[in-house]
Amino acid sequence: MSGDRVVIVTGGTRGVGRAVVTLFARKGWRVFFSARHAEAVQALQMQLRDEGRIVEGYACDLTRKSDIEKWVRWLQEKTDRIDVLVNNAGTFIPGKIQTEDDATFEYLMALNAAAPYYLTKRLLPMMTARKSGLIVNISSTAGLQPYPNGASYCISKYALTGFSKVLREELKPTGVRVSTLYPGPVYTDSWEGTPYEPHRFILPDTLARIIHHLTELPADAVVEDLVVRPQAGDFSESEMNS
Ligand SMILES: NC(=O)c1ccc[n+]([C@@H]2O[C@H](COP(=O)([O-])OP(=O)(O)OC[C@H]3O[C@@H](n4cnc5c(N)ncnc54)[C@H](OP(=O)(O)O)[C@@H]3O)[C@@H](O)[C@H]2O)c1
Repeated sequence: MSGDRVVIVTGGTRGVGRAVVTLFARKGWRVFFSARHAEAVQALQMQLRDEGRIVEGYACDLTRKSDIEKWVRWLQEKTDRIDVLVNNAGTFIPGKIQTEDDATFEYLMALNAAAPYYLTKRLLPMMTARKSGLIVNISSTAGLQPYPNGASYCISKYALTGFSKVLREELKPTGVRVSTLYPGPVYTDSWEGTPYEPHRFILPDTLARIIHHLTELPADAVVEDLVVRPQAGDFSESEMNS
């Protein structure tokens, strides 16, 4: 059991975030998570509390800085320790720079890049004070290699990759570790209606297990970058465009 170890997870109600919340809760961690839809937050909290787990959900929209600030104040009242922060919330909207709306760019930058920046810098003092902790930023292979029709998503994930790498440099003397995860396709709601077979994807539970493994490593080393692909490989460009 993990005693009173604390993990904070954004986007905790579905997909990768839900798998992380569930796994850490079942491993005995105290889990704080957020998502926009209050009913889904309540439902997951209730489901895990019925199992005897320690989970505290919070409904907020991470594209609003004021919501992030409210959640941070709420968290500061609930705990004075953070062992792990998983910046997971993010979304994909297809598009090309030449044709997509500015609003697509602005939304994806707000959720995928700005929110982790605002949240992390506000929660960091709790981690640096204890000279320990792990921040996991969930980028994407789209944050390493751009692809057609993923314009603002790729741009936002490159921004998140940049944030994560700068943070790692800044935090080297502090004892707080930073890991950037670059998953290929993960079988979540984002792929609803996909023609691809489930075996072409990574499962959310597998990513959750990988993140949990990162927390079990001793403090002398950090996994800076972790690329995770489906065993069958990524979709080819022709598959993506078909
Ligand atoms: N799925 C993939 O193939 C894949 C591949 C590589 C990387 N990733 C990355 O992995 C992360 C998780 O992806 P996923 O596929 O698991 O996503 P998902 O299934 O769509 O779940 C997204 C989660 O984030 C929450 N969320 C969405 N917008 C939000 C907002 N504005 N404010 C607060 N919470 C919000 C959602 O709840 P509400 O809707 O209630 O807010 C939900 O809990 C993302 O960063 C994604 O870019 C995914």
